[in-house]
Amino acid sequence: MNTTLRTAATTSDSPDAASAAYASAAYASAADASADAPGTTAAQARGAELEELIRRNPRRFRVLTGDRPTGRLHLGHYFGTLHNRVRLQGLGAEMFVIIADYQVLTDRDVADDLTGHVEELVLDYLAIGVDPSRSTIFTHSAVPALNQLLLPFLSLVSVGELHRNPTVKEEIAHSRQSSVSGLMFTYPVHQAADILFCKADLVPVGRDQLPHLEITRTIARRFNDRYSGDGPLFPEPEALLSPAPLLLGTDGTKMSKSRGNAIALAADADETARLIKGAKTDSRRHITYDPAGRPEVSSLLLLAALCQDRTPQQVADDIGPAGAAALKRTVTEAVNEYLAPIRSRRVQLAQDRSHLRRTLREGNERARAVADATLTEVRAAMNSHY
Ligand code: TRP
Repeated sequence: MNTTLRTAATTSDSPDAASAAYASAAYASAADASADAPGTTAAQARGAELEELIRRNPRRFRVLTGDRPTGRLHLGHYFGTLHNRVRLQGLGAEMFVIIADYQVLTDRDVADDLTGHVEELVLDYLAIGVDPSRSTIFTHSAVPALNQLLLPFLSLVSVGELHRNPTVKEEIAHSRQSSVSGLMFTYPVHQAADILFCKADLVPVGRDQLPHLEITRTIARRFNDRYSGDGPLFPEPEALLSPAPLLLGTDGTKMSKSRGNAIALAADADETARLIKGAKTDSRRHITYDPAGRPEVSSLLLLAALCQDRTPQQVADDIGPAGAAALKRTVTEAVNEYLAPIRSRRVQLAQDRSHLRRTLREGNERARAVADATLTEVRAAMNSHY
């Protein structure tokens, strides 16, 4: 498996070679993952074709993707999806990045400091190279016409379909709340509005989001069938599976902020060193790359490899008999060196809150103009334009 990547920060303007390496690594690594959502294999096969189409004509695509504002982003996010966004932006695709501040209301503990979480997210985006002059960063709650699409869209899906959505089932199972809110239950439809308001045709996501994209496609199709006689109003957007080589957290389980096993992009060099020093390894001294047999060691090797534009095997061969302590030193140095420019940019950006707020205001304004135009078309199609 070739997992060579280059840094987003340095390649966003000359993306060809790096993006080819990234894309082929993506599909190679995606192919050997387990526990896939339905439709994963088809999405992977289509992914390679889409990559080719993007390379040939990036301006044909409008990309929408986004995150819930749950706090600072970590390395799992970065190598999973963020790097891919900056790559697509660098290729010349038009991009919208949604900060899902209504969706995050389903996580009650996060909603307490929403403004803080949103600002941290904007900081992370800007620091990794999302360029607001080329990409629109905006929040759910600031775009009324987007939210209004929810109502006609809700009429196009059945309660049974919502009940069957595996991602919602999982969210519900994991939420520590005693009852399921209507928002939680309907958020796949909300997500369809997020995607369709700007008529995005490409949605880079992780595998867990594929069921939502399926609902989005269904809604687009049904809307077009029912209401738009003179040609489809909405595209049926396609998933572009994130080339996410799965990075484990420091305890050997999936990297996730809520598990306390994540290395934040914004962490400083000392905190990074401390976290990696405490990372789980195994009792075999000789370091080898063996993702199935030695998941923790292999994930550390992968992390160093991603940062150093090498393969995990190469990193393993260099360390070999020197053991886990040497491995951790290598990973710490690799991560700190890779993140240094991102972190220093982030520190600088954090000093100017008014610039952050202005970035978001301008993004919101652009998103509102696009959403207003779509809603006007939707109302005309539905004969509710008075
Ligand atoms: N549901 C996504 C998540 O939990 C965030 C999100 C909201 C999103 N709206 C979206 C992702 C639209 C892609 C497209 O991470």
